[in-house]
Amino acid sequence: MTFSTRLASRISGMASRRLTAATANNQLQLQLRHMASKTPNSSVFNTNHGIGAATAELFARAGSNVVLLARRRAALDQVAEQCQQAYAESGHDGRVVVIPADMQDRKSVGGVLDQLDGLTLDILVNNAGLVRGREHVGDVTDEDIEVMFQTNVFGLIHLTQSVVREFKKRNQGMIINLGSVAGIEPYAGGSIYCATKAAVTAFSGSLLRELVNTNIRVAEIQPGMVETEFSVVRYRGDKDRATNEYSGMTPLTGADIAEQIVWVASRPAHVNIANMLIFPVNQASATINWRKPQE
Ligand SMILES: NC(=O)c1ccc[n+]([C@@H]2O[C@H](COP(=O)([O-])OP(=O)(O)OC[C@H]3O[C@@H](n4cnc5c(N)ncnc54)[C@H](OP(=O)(O)O)[C@@H]3O)[C@@H](O)[C@H]2O)c1
Repeated sequence: MTFSTRLASRISGMASRRLTAATANNQLQLQLRHMASKTPNSSVFNTNHGIGAATAELFARAGSNVVLLARRRAALDQVAEQCQQAYAESGHDGRVVVIPADMQDRKSVGGVLDQLDGLTLDILVNNAGLVRGREHVGDVTDEDIEVMFQTNVFGLIHLTQSVVREFKKRNQGMIINLGSVAGIEPYAGGSIYCATKAAVTAFSGSLLRELVNTNIRVAEIQPGMVETEFSVVRYRGDKDRATNEYSGMTPLTGADIAEQIVWVASRPAHVNIANMLIFPVNQASATINWRKPQE
């Protein structure tokens, strides 16, 4: 069974839980059955929490090898264990390669492709990213500016450069970048983060256009509000403030976005979902959302 077929059978189950319209569901399953890919089974994620961890687990459940990359070794090991459990539960064989690396460190990023332990890369999910604070321009610290740009932009660009070189040699592969609604709609108190995500959107758009004469696909996923460690990091460890960000509404989960990422990755080779904007039902833009009034 090919990578895509395994992926298809797994996510068609997920899709049927999500889609209520029978015809839409049938169409989706039909498309999934027609997926064909002869590519080997490996993916890289910059992750150990949130969206990335959920994505890694879902790819593992579908039988893909996974490469996990983030800074915290203990958390990476925990996600690796979740992936092993996903292989066992789904009856698939798979390998997990763990690469502790800091996307801010160019040398560390430069060495990633030498640590794949024999796996061939098919899909790069550029997920590592963060926001710090809500300070307005003039009050943002130099350190916060640098951490956000180094991680969300420079790290992503450097890793993508080395991966694209490999993909071009094989004329295949897929790059999935995590942008954000913040990249298309800037908001007060998010100047640096919004600027980094706008950079991701511009970079993804240029890459898409540069690779138009190849089989390499480029997709950008732009989530709205997703409850992960994202807001805890934003508020520098203040969990109450982070939780309050989602009060009175049901935000997306890491698993919601993971499903979209795996779905995008499992389209037939000639289909490229170039862009996907995903909101929870009560969010309509970066700043417009509806919250149930407190009783
Ligand atoms: N949550 C949202 O509402 C939301 C909305 C739109 C877009 N996004 C984007 O989605 C992506 C994932 O965010 P999330 O919500 O899953 O947040 P999260 O739970 O905080 O996860 C962020 C991940 O990035 C890794 N990371 C951070 N800095 C890194 C570095 N310098 N080097 C390597 N890895 C690093 C973290 O691991 P370590 O700390 O161990 O390195 C962690 O695994 C980000 O790009 C974010 O901007 C999130």
